[in-house]
Amino acid sequence: MPQSKSTRASEPQPPSETLAHIHFAVPQGWEETLSWQLSQDGFGIALTEQTFPAGYLDDEPVDGVKPMQMILVLQPEQVDSFRKRFSELAKVYGWGAVPDLTIEERDAIDSESAWRQQWKPFRCGGFVVHTNFHDLSELPLRSTDQPLQLVAGSAFGTGGHPSTRIALRVLRRWCTERPSLASFLDVGMGSGILGTAAAMMGVQKVAGMDPDPPSADQANATARANQVGDACHFWRGVLEEDQNQYDAVMANLQSGLLQRYALELAAKVKAGGPFFAGGFMDRNREATLGALCDAGFKLTREYKRGRWYAAEFLRITGNSSQ
Ligand SMILES: C[S@@+](CC[C@H](N)C(=O)[O-])C[C@H]1O[C@@H](n2cnc3c(N)ncnc32)[C@H](O)[C@@H]1O
Repeated sequence: MPQSKSTRASEPQPPSETLAHIHFAVPQGWEETLSWQLSQDGFGIALTEQTFPAGYLDDEPVDGVKPMQMILVLQPEQVDSFRKRFSELAKVYGWGAVPDLTIEERDAIDSESAWRQQWKPFRCGGFVVHTNFHDLSELPLRSTDQPLQLVAGSAFGTGGHPSTRIALRVLRRWCTERPSLASFLDVGMGSGILGTAAAMMGVQKVAGMDPDPPSADQANATARANQVGDACHFWRGVLEEDQNQYDAVMANLQSGLLQRYALELAAKVKAGGPFFAGGFMDRNREATLGALCDAGFKLTREYKRGRWYAAEFLRITGNSSQ
């Protein structure tokens, strides 16, 4: 039987066959950004408690909702450096107080099952996003649900971030309203969730690049797991190197990148085609939208989830940067 007991980080280090389970709560909307940053920092993936089928992801509650409960499993000797990094990030993200950490020591053998228990399927944009260890026959699926299986890994894009969820919904609408949409690019595809979704909705040529080392393998595996591997091409790289144009483009990137590469992004979208930019924060809204509009996009819709913004555009025809 797994053993569990509370401990403090100042106590002597536990033996190596145990792992530290760290529980904490973060303001809603920050869970995937934090998890991605921690994985980049070498701490592995922090998981968010999600619910299905009536999960928050389907109804998108925004401000005023309770903080998100997260869990991170670490080697005991990583706990002190995690504490330090967590405090730094809380300041950078402007959370005010650093959230409390509850640390448990557990037998290592229990960690994999704890991770699996924590990762729950969720519904978004007509998809039910799940992983290979979920038994779909046990879920109360609706006849309209389209299961999308994510291959687990450390790349960004589990659907836990507001901008990914908004993007999934926008993509569903684009594919419904534009049945002739034949090519799609996800700039910085992370886990491959958006490109795979596009291919599953019938887009024949899906592309995505990402400089994050694990991303391409994970994204291609996700496409294959959903039987759309032939339609998808995901590679390791950066958007600046791609010279192709696409019927529709999504770029769920930080504000600085959206501004810096606004012209390159505009050059990727065929005249009149839709473009989605997500993942920028309220304080960067004006500068981000301004740079994209100057580069040849016309703003058509805006989305706000907590402090996160996303926007849809159309590529203006006859722009000099085309
Ligand atoms: C917020 S994640 C988005 C993942 C996924 N598309 C989604 O919407 O959930 C942004 C991704 O952009 C990638 N990225 C950063 N700079 C990039 C660049 N110059 N070109 C392409 N991708 C880039 C990052 O590595 C990261 O995986």
